[in-house]
Amino acid sequence: MTTKFISADPERFAESDLSDAAKAIRDGGLVAFPTETVYGLGASGINDRAVKRIFEAKGRPSNNPLILHFASVGDCNEYAVCDDRFLALADAFMPGPLTVVLPSRGNCAPSVTAGLSTVAVRVPMHPVARSLIKAAGVPIAAPSANLSGKPSPTTCDHVKNDLNGKVEFVIDGGACTVGLESTIVKLDPTGATLLRPGGITLEMLKSVLGEVDVAPEVLAPPAPGAVPESPGMLLKHYSPNAPLYLVRSDDHARLTSFFHEASMQPDNAIICFNGDVNPKNNVYYLGDRDDEFEHARRLFDLLRVADKPGIRRIYAPMPRREGIGLALQNRMLRAAAFRIKDI
Ligand code: TXA
Ligand code: MG
Repeated sequence: MTTKFISADPERFAESDLSDAAKAIRDGGLVAFPTETVYGLGASGINDRAVKRIFEAKGRPSNNPLILHFASVGDCNEYAVCDDRFLALADAFMPGPLTVVLPSRGNCAPSVTAGLSTVAVRVPMHPVARSLIKAAGVPIAAPSANLSGKPSPTTCDHVKNDLNGKVEFVIDGGACTVGLESTIVKLDPTGATLLRPGGITLEMLKSVLGEVDVAPEVLAPPAPGAVPESPGMLLKHYSPNAPLYLVRSDDHARLTSFFHEASMQPDNAIICFNGDVNPKNNVYYLGDRDDEFEHARRLFDLLRVADKPGIRRIYAPMPRREGIGLALQNRMLRAAAFRIKDI
């Protein structure tokens, strides 16, 4: 298949630029599109054959359910049972980088929910994503537009590397502004559980919901035989070919001298903060040390570029747990297969 690329600058695209892609969605095709978090690989959420193609294109296990994307909060209620807590969250954070798991009404394509009685719903903020969903006229089922096991794509180039020739359209809307996948919170009768941290932080969720539990798999490897609430958390994720090590120290000077030493060896790659190590081959920068939003924007790109042939080890700093740091720590722990180096 020849993949067609469409360019859609979020600030000046016309709705008509998206009409061929929207038609492809309606006709059962696959369209990769930008969102504020990461690029998504979309298909009509009411066409089971189309949704099955997503799993094939990504090499994704069929027991891992997908998120349904809507153009507006009001549309979610047609497919999910939306209660007052959902509406309060929606008021505060939607459209935006938040996904809510709710009881399903059972009317989306069965492969979307992978047999669960719940469905994950999200209203993205990215203007191209919203226009595409509106023009398609159906909810769009979309996982991240990477091959299963690779870091989520935050640029059109990442999508091209992974999915060229496997999808009808790729819409280039520039680099994603959040850079990590959406926060996922599950609402059930007994309470709320954070399944995946993201741009809407745990602190922000608590400001609306009060109590929010954190699923154990957010910061710990799944216990053998455990069934996590979010099946995606079971899988090996975001793993570079070269092993990644998260370096942890209370003392920043010690951390920088560790990175400096490690950068002397040509088969090491270093992901660090601006100013930690002088620029040289295989040293990559997350941004200023206190700018965690910038770290989030850059992380997935750096995991891809640092993972070059000839690199045997990648070192990166262990993020903190507060704010968006929790999401960074969650993604980096998985990319590192929970390898932490205390120094
Ligand atoms: O930011 C995002 O959420 C991006 C963009 C494209 O919207 N999408 C994304 O999708 O990250 P994906 O498939 O890569 O991650 C979705 C996660 C998976 O871990 C999946 O197991 C979980 O959501 N999930 C989906 N439906 C669920 C459900 N009903 N209950 C629990 N977890 C669910
Ligand atoms: Mg994904």
